Amino acid sequence: MISKLAQMAAGCVLIFATVAFAHEGATGVVKERMDLMDTQKDAMKVLGGMAKGQVPFDAAKAAEAAHEIENTAAKIPDLFPEGTGGHPSEAKPEVWTQWEEFTADAEALTKAATALKVALEGDAPEWQAKFKGVVDACKTCHKTFRAEKKD
Ligand code: HEC
Repeated sequence: MISKLAQMAAGCVLIFATVAFAHEGATGVVKERMDLMDTQKDAMKVLGGMAKGQVPFDAAKAAEAAHEIENTAAKIPDLFPEGTGGHPSEAKPEVWTQWEEFTADAEALTKAATALKVALEGDAPEWQAKFKGVVDACKTCHKTFRAEKKD
């Protein structure tokens, strides 16, 4: 009897540990892609601050952020291997059922980021329009392929 109780208690601890772990976040490739997305978010913050005039415009810094987005966007498809959906991932099943559209959205982001980088390197005044293109590229993919839109 006592050992049964002990077993049950041990079982509960295990369950709680699992839940806590899931809330903690992801591991492996899922964590990798979340980290990549967070890197992109940080780069967007740098650009967004300048676009809103909260931070003084610095073309070199902005171009660096655009380059970061360009580089990371190219890695998106590799970080979504089949069978990596489900909790704690926010990736919708559509990522894999509409794979071509998903990779096209990733490519669209790469292109938008390149266009922004080129504009910034050329000191082009229309960089804000190109920045909006990048914002739209993030949103387009999230709308179809990401379950929660917290960012
Ligand atoms: C090709 C599709 C696609 C593009 C383009 C894209 N994302 Fe995502 N993003 C996703 C998916 C899918 C997830 C959910 C990933 C998961 O939870 O497994 C996600 C998750 C995120 C997250 C949450 C990460 C976390 O810690 O859970 C942030 C932040 C984010 N994206 C920011 C961005 C920004 C900023 C851009 C544009 C610069 C961008 N994303 C472009 C598909 C995309």
